[in-house]
Amino acid sequence: MTADLFDAASMYDEDYLHFFAPGSGAGGPTHGPLVGTAYSDTNPAAELVWQLLGLEAGMTVLDLACGHGTLANALAARGCVVTGLDSSAVFLERAAAAGTKVEYVRGDMRALPEWTGRFDRVVNWTTAFGYFDDDTNRVVLGEIARVLRPGGRLAMDLDNLAKFLAGWTPSRITVARDNGDMLVDRHHLDPLTARFEVERTVIRDGRVRKLTFLKRLFAYPELRDWLTAAGFTGVQGHGEDGTPLTAAHHRMIVTATR
Ligand SMILES: C[S@@+](CC[C@H](N)C(=O)[O-])C[C@H]1O[C@@H](n2cnc3c(N)ncnc32)[C@H](O)[C@@H]1O
Repeated sequence: MTADLFDAASMYDEDYLHFFAPGSGAGGPTHGPLVGTAYSDTNPAAELVWQLLGLEAGMTVLDLACGHGTLANALAARGCVVTGLDSSAVFLERAAAAGTKVEYVRGDMRALPEWTGRFDRVVNWTTAFGYFDDDTNRVVLGEIARVLRPGGRLAMDLDNLAKFLAGWTPSRITVARDNGDMLVDRHHLDPLTARFEVERTVIRDGRVRKLTFLKRLFAYPELRDWLTAAGFTGVQGHGEDGTPLTAAHHRMIVTATR
């Protein structure tokens, strides 16, 4: 396994839940945009995934990098047999607190457990792919292919490159709360690696700390070709409304069949 490009544990921690996860106890309205698509109580992602993947009650689903369990819990509530895997113990604890019948497993998406052929469907939501060097990112796709049964299907939710670049700014206040808590992000885009690197300043209760994280950006054809090389067929690109991907969509939902 290659060296990490950033410290995921310092990024996906209790501060992250405080700012992004409803019910974090932060209180008060939030100003400014909330990033991502899964950070809401209603979770429209569940219905989208249901339709795009032809989900049915009783199907086995892996939510890979499930975070605090919003999507995993919603799919379990609809009758799927859901396993959620994530590297963050804090997130898994929050996920399990919802009390649904999801099996939550702490693990690393680069080396999944002995689950070969176990799942009917895999979901990977809210830009939870592309944290490593490219060889390792492709290993993750290979791991997904391994744990899907033949004919099983995958859906990944990523930033839509065209929209993402159109809205790119050198810095922004990503979240600001009434009490002065704030996430301030400085952005760096490296065209040679297609990596979006963020230097984040977390201001909470008067304390300030800095962290960095990054994610790989994908144009659809590149990810399609990576998925094909990993053994997938029938790759398709959609927007967040399920229609074919356009430059106007915020999200790129990629589906593929094992
Ligand atoms: C942007 S969050 C998305 C979480 C969730 N899918 C959602 O929609 O809310 C990315 C997730 O990837 C997890 N993660 C980061 N590195 C990981 C790794 N090597 N293996 C498994 N999960 C990882 C983080 O802990 C975090 O929960």
